[in-house]
Amino acid sequence: MLRITVLVSGGGSNLQALLDAQADGRITNGRVTQVIASKAGVYALERAGACGIASCVVSRKDYADSGSYGRAMLEAIDRAKPDLLVLAGYLSYLGEKAVQKYSGKILNIHPALLPSFGGKGMYGLHVHEAVLAAGVKVTGATVHFVNEVIDGGEIVSQKAVEVLPGDTPETLQKRVMEQAEWQLLPQAVADFCDGKL
Ligand code: GRF
Repeated sequence: MLRITVLVSGGGSNLQALLDAQADGRITNGRVTQVIASKAGVYALERAGACGIASCVVSRKDYADSGSYGRAMLEAIDRAKPDLLVLAGYLSYLGEKAVQKYSGKILNIHPALLPSFGGKGMYGLHVHEAVLAAGVKVTGATVHFVNEVIDGGEIVSQKAVEVLPGDTPETLQKRVMEQAEWQLLPQAVADFCDGKL
């Protein structure tokens, strides 16, 4: 049984998708044992608490610089002793040391079809704003391994989602979450835990 640590920064809908998949048997060889939030009070922490999962906060604003934040985040991750690290709506800085130490064991969900609409500044609604501004008719989500390049790691899986006339960034984000993210991430985590990745 692999130990999974999930890093979050917001609503935690992707965390919830993992917890639901664990509860209904779609993830059998791994279990979420720790949630780490990059800021206090986010709803993702409520979701962890409702499932009795240990959580902690390593808040970026409590640290003078990204180096000290990265060290604090790595210490929190090490304490959890994860076999797999999942970035689920995590919007902060993981730090080079953590990326190197857990290389090959960090999965991220990105709300676009990488390499399109990825990289610095491409997170949350900004991604969908860029998709609409570009006028593309198809977007989607990507699960990838995390390396030192933002959104640059090996792609694990992708799912396409239609852009509809009249879409706003909010309606598009919701569709991408419902039709792609919440399916891709649990499946990728299950596959990793089953030794298929
Ligand atoms: C989602 O768009 C996700 O793709 C991105 O962060 C947003 C919020 O995710 N990484 P969540 O609801 O906190 O999982």
